[in-house]
Amino acid sequence: GAPVTVDISALQEGQRLVAEWRGQPIWIVKRSKAILDALPTLDGMLKDPESGNPDQQPAYVLEANPELRSIKSDISVLVGLCTHLGCAPEMVAEIRPAPFDANWKGGYFCPCHKSKFDMAGRVYDGVPAPTNLLVPPHHYADDNTIVIG
Ligand code: FES
Repeated sequence: GAPVTVDISALQEGQRLVAEWRGQPIWIVKRSKAILDALPTLDGMLKDPESGNPDQQPAYVLEANPELRSIKSDISVLVGLCTHLGCAPEMVAEIRPAPFDANWKGGYFCPCHKSKFDMAGRVYDGVPAPTNLLVPPHHYADDNTIVIG
C-alpha cells in the first residue's frame, strides 16, 4: 500500500490519533513526561525490555532509546493490534491503579486474553502475547507530519 501522511499538530499529551495503513490501525500517541520516566522502571517485568526482537520495530527507532521505541521521545507510533491473536488493546495513558493491575504505569490492555503492554508497546511477562507491539516503518516529513510506510 501507499504511504499514509498524518498531521499531528493537534495531538495533545495523553491523546491518541488513529490512522490506517495497509488495513491496520496505526496509533500515534503523545506521551507525558511522567509516562516516559516510568518506562525504564518497568524493564524487570517485561519479556523484551530492550526491544531485542528485530522484527518488531525498524532499527532507527531504537537508536535513541530502545525502551521508548520511538524517533521522538514523546511520540509513539504503533500498530494497534495485539501480537497474540490480533485483538484491539485498550489504552490507559495515565499512571494510576487500573482494575487489572494495581501497579499499572499506563499502557495497553488487551481484553481478549488479558495481555498487557506498556506505553512503548512492550509486552509484560506472564501474558499470552509473545512479542512487543509492532512499530511500523515511518518518518517525519516535518515536526507535525508523520509519514507511515
Ligand atoms: Fe490479545 Fe489474545 S488477542 S491477548
